[in-house]
Amino acid sequence: MRPANTPLQHVDDWDEFVAARYRQGKSEDEFRNYKSDANPTVTEFYRQNHSHQTLDFVLSKKAEYCSLNRGRKSIWEMADYLNTLVDDSDPDTDLTQIEHLLQTAEAIRKDGHPRWFILAGLVHDLGKVLCLYGEPQWAVVGDTFPVGCGYSDQIVFPEFFATNPDSGIPSYQTKYGVYQPHCGLDRVHLSFGHDEYIFQVTQQYLPEEAQYMLRYHSFYAAHRHGAYRHLMNQHDERMFDWVRKFNLYDLYSKGRERPKVQDILPYYQDLVSDFFPDEIAW
Ligand SMILES: [Fe+2]
Ligand SMILES: [Fe+2]
Repeated sequence: MRPANTPLQHVDDWDEFVAARYRQGKSEDEFRNYKSDANPTVTEFYRQNHSHQTLDFVLSKKAEYCSLNRGRKSIWEMADYLNTLVDDSDPDTDLTQIEHLLQTAEAIRKDGHPRWFILAGLVHDLGKVLCLYGEPQWAVVGDTFPVGCGYSDQIVFPEFFATNPDSGIPSYQTKYGVYQPHCGLDRVHLSFGHDEYIFQVTQQYLPEEAQYMLRYHSFYAAHRHGAYRHLMNQHDERMFDWVRKFNLYDLYSKGRERPKVQDILPYYQDLVSDFFPDEIAW
């Protein structure tokens, strides 16, 4: 049996739930019925995520990881390390972590997007190494949402916020909470996870559009449902066009053909070395 704080068989079960939630061709009514796509492990995962992600927790994890003091490694070393995250996945049908990254990047490349966009696809989920650092699933994956202000009803399973200690702090439950109107997302703390970590690791090497893609790719309430516009500024609004563009590849590149890793690797080795030095701080 898995430990209590590991409800998902595999962290990618969360990604699969999101992809099912936004299945192409789904009507708005079907979408609102998202609970039918959630099995009991996914539901338990959200219960934990929503009840444990407090403002204090986010600040402590940012202090722990965002100073990037876990050593220097290349992008490829980290990708190999992430590939050791197998849990109980089925090697015959489930994509490895590197395969998911390459599949996303290849779908972007086929559509003729710029190299930095392809690169964003390649690295977007490397932050899931947080699992290998020992973080619980609820601190690595899951839809992200602002902490320190009222929860939007556009977040899935909003009822689980009732058990979040921040729900008992009135100043955190107003519309703006600890933030100012249209202060910009850079000043807003989102629930902690693989998005924020990979953004911090790569930000100095990537154009801003790619930084937004990495940092906000799991912020579905905002990029899919338009929530939290009252905290975003005009620059965020413009940049979210890119987040939305990216999201289609993250959601819908799965299920395509398994990438032929050996054939395409030379292209990606060149791409990575064009943007990143041999080793970066993690
Ligand atoms: Fe992700
Ligand atoms: Fe992904």
